[in-house]
Amino acid sequence: MGGGGAGLVVRDLSVGYGPVRALREVSLEVPEGAVVTVLGGNGAGKTTLLRAVSRTLAFHGGTVTGGTVSLGDRRLDGLPPDRVVAAGVCQVPEGRQVFARMTVADNLRAGTFGSSGGRTARAAALRRVHELFPVLAERAQQHAGLLSGGEQQMLAVGRALMAAPKVLLLDEPSLGLAPLMAERIADTVREINDQGTSVLLVEQNAAIALRLADRAYVLEVGEVTLSGPADELAASDEVRRRYLGVVDEDAAADASSARGTLPALSRWEG
Ligand SMILES: Nc1ncnc2c1ncn2[C@@H]1O[C@H](COP(=O)(O)OP(=O)(O)OP(=O)(O)O)[C@@H](O)[C@H]1O
Ligand SMILES: [Mg+2]
Repeated sequence: MGGGGAGLVVRDLSVGYGPVRALREVSLEVPEGAVVTVLGGNGAGKTTLLRAVSRTLAFHGGTVTGGTVSLGDRRLDGLPPDRVVAAGVCQVPEGRQVFARMTVADNLRAGTFGSSGGRTARAAALRRVHELFPVLAERAQQHAGLLSGGEQQMLAVGRALMAAPKVLLLDEPSLGLAPLMAERIADTVREINDQGTSVLLVEQNAAIALRLADRAYVLEVGEVTLSGPADELAASDEVRRRYLGVVDEDAAADASSARGTLPALSRWEG
């Protein structure tokens, strides 16, 4: 944590898809070495946020209408997507999107396009990926489409790691996975972070995300409505009710009445 120097900083970011305003003045920070999570329901704008950072928004008909994105003192907004990768920010897209008819090995090789590293760096990246996900070494020559959903998620993460990013953008890695596999992916995210990669994790699975993250933001209809240390958000009644599925009204009421004793969360609602 800390260091400040090479953190990812999003300031007042607004995004539209034609007339649809998907993000309104969203600000967040991923300090160097941190895991930061963005929680939010369907359509909140989580994927849009990651696309705006990775500069892939145009492929989806979206445009940034305001705000800035920077990594350290380097502005990322305005760069083409491959330059964002070269600058050290890689996205694992929603729904994995591995190349089903290509081999596992070729999928991983595709992850090095746009990266700035040479042959030695690529070999080191592949070693790291194979250590994190031994199954990707075992299945190297198989078509990616034959892998299970969980294995495809590992491949999608592995592909992004091939560019040796400073910041990994993860879009709902646990979506559609059995609980045990979701836990395994979570363990790997922790390990990747321990190795020095910062993580911006977008999730609907708040229980996993809040456990992994140092800091969390809640996105609702394109706006950040809550933010704070992950453990404080996990303890807030609003997050418990809406994102952790706490249905016990008494518990929610208790949490609500105890709110005065909890550390204050910053509210950014206009
Ligand atoms: N390609 C697109 N064209 C037009 N509108 C879009 C497009 N992609 C997303 N949107 C709209 O932008 C808003 C934010 O969508 P986004 O996909 O970012 O949400 P999300 O939080 O990732 O949702 P989910 O949890 O379902 O993945 C929604 O209103 C959505 O309908
Ligand atoms: Mg999404």
